[in-house]
Amino acid sequence: MKYLMTINGESVGEDLEQIEIINPGTNEVVGTVPKGAEAEADLAIKAAHDAFEEWADLTAYDRANYLKKLTDLLIENKEELGRIMTLEMGKPITQSIGEVVYAASFLEWYAEEGKRIYGQTVPAHVPNKRMQVWKKPVGVVAAVTPWNFPLAMLTRKVGPALAAGCTVIMKPSSESPLTAGMFMDLISEAGFPKGVVNLVTGSSSKIVGRIMEDDRVRKLTFTGSTEVGKLLIKQSADNVKLLSLELGGHAPLIVLDDANLDVAVKGAVDSKFRNTGQTCVCANRIYVQSGIYDEFVERFSKAVQALNVGDSLDSEVDIGPLINEDGLEKVIRHVEDAVGKGAGVVSGGNRIGKSGLYYEPTVIRDVDKSMVIMQEETFGPIAPVQKVETIEEAIKFANSTEYGLAAYVFTENLAQGMKLIEKLDFGIVGWNDGAPSAAQVPFGGMKESGIGREGGAEGIEAFVESQYVSIGLN
Ligand code: SIN
Repeated sequence: MKYLMTINGESVGEDLEQIEIINPGTNEVVGTVPKGAEAEADLAIKAAHDAFEEWADLTAYDRANYLKKLTDLLIENKEELGRIMTLEMGKPITQSIGEVVYAASFLEWYAEEGKRIYGQTVPAHVPNKRMQVWKKPVGVVAAVTPWNFPLAMLTRKVGPALAAGCTVIMKPSSESPLTAGMFMDLISEAGFPKGVVNLVTGSSSKIVGRIMEDDRVRKLTFTGSTEVGKLLIKQSADNVKLLSLELGGHAPLIVLDDANLDVAVKGAVDSKFRNTGQTCVCANRIYVQSGIYDEFVERFSKAVQALNVGDSLDSEVDIGPLINEDGLEKVIRHVEDAVGKGAGVVSGGNRIGKSGLYYEPTVIRDVDKSMVIMQEETFGPIAPVQKVETIEEAIKFANSTEYGLAAYVFTENLAQGMKLIEKLDFGIVGWNDGAPSAAQVPFGGMKESGIGREGGAEGIEAFVESQYVSIGLN
């Protein structure tokens, strides 16, 4: 599989060094993309800037038609997009195809939401004025996306940006850029005008570094680590670039004594093991009240043992390989540290084989806050379960982190659930629900988990500026 960059409708990068993309399950090279750098960033910025005025001048209805065509193309090609995704980053195929459908839902939803960027008429304080708030697209947007959701993170950014009238430069992760390559082909097939969407691959520091310097790019929307997010905040200062940042998570999952255990076990499995534990909103710390602790651990561990690990192209497989050696090493380090400090492995706890980057889905009990796994985001299939006595204790532990992306709460008691959630400092809460994400609702974090929201009405506000217009009637 070979994908090139697309800039102003042209294929670019044939003559450049090519990056090999490795299947983490087999170590085989599955494709290549060009190693672009500053020069390609410059070309893409110019193309997106030149295309902006014409795209912004279209009606929201015209832009919606392009987005709907693209939605249809994603759904028509979901098997092939899913297959490429699985080959390049190891996501189990059923989940990869599911991600394509999820990705398409952002395009479809924002095609319509673009028609509802209303602005406002505000009552004036004097009779001879009319006061209005108009909404304008922010301009050229750079969308920088991670390897773990190679398509949905693109459409969650690109969908609202295009609907609002912005033009876009996409920069996918060098670990999974092939899905983005096929997505770009579908964008061209949908007939978007040249330069409205551009794809640049290669060195993140060089490409994003150049994008940050250039004041023609008015907004950067990024999903990735908190460490890189902080660097981008610093880089954005020079030209006051607008930022949306979806950064790290370290999600607590709280199960109270009165929880429905079937629901709690299913929710914990859904949240923890999606994408082999490699999502920002994965439950990373499980706190269970003492009255049901033992029973929860037993039933949860049984459900985890039933997960199928193996070749991600097999539609029966639930757990695939980790993305790279670093990811695997982190998982091993977290388990060793916890066990060394007194935690017990209930199920799993071992690497599988020696070549692919597989690790058994694992449950560990009797963990506490001294263990690294309760302090750092694991990004792997390890579920640590800590016993807590009271709701207050669960809240204290849950909030004792610099992250604030997602949290999960399992209780059947309405009042307890509401009081608990009010105290949790997290941007997303799943209450008796391990899979809360959807196109029509805001996704994003508090504290060091980010700035702004993607998805829902908030997700398109991120791509428009308010322009206040005061009209004198003389
Ligand atoms: C993420 O891990 O950042 C995306 C997960 C989601 O959209 O649910």
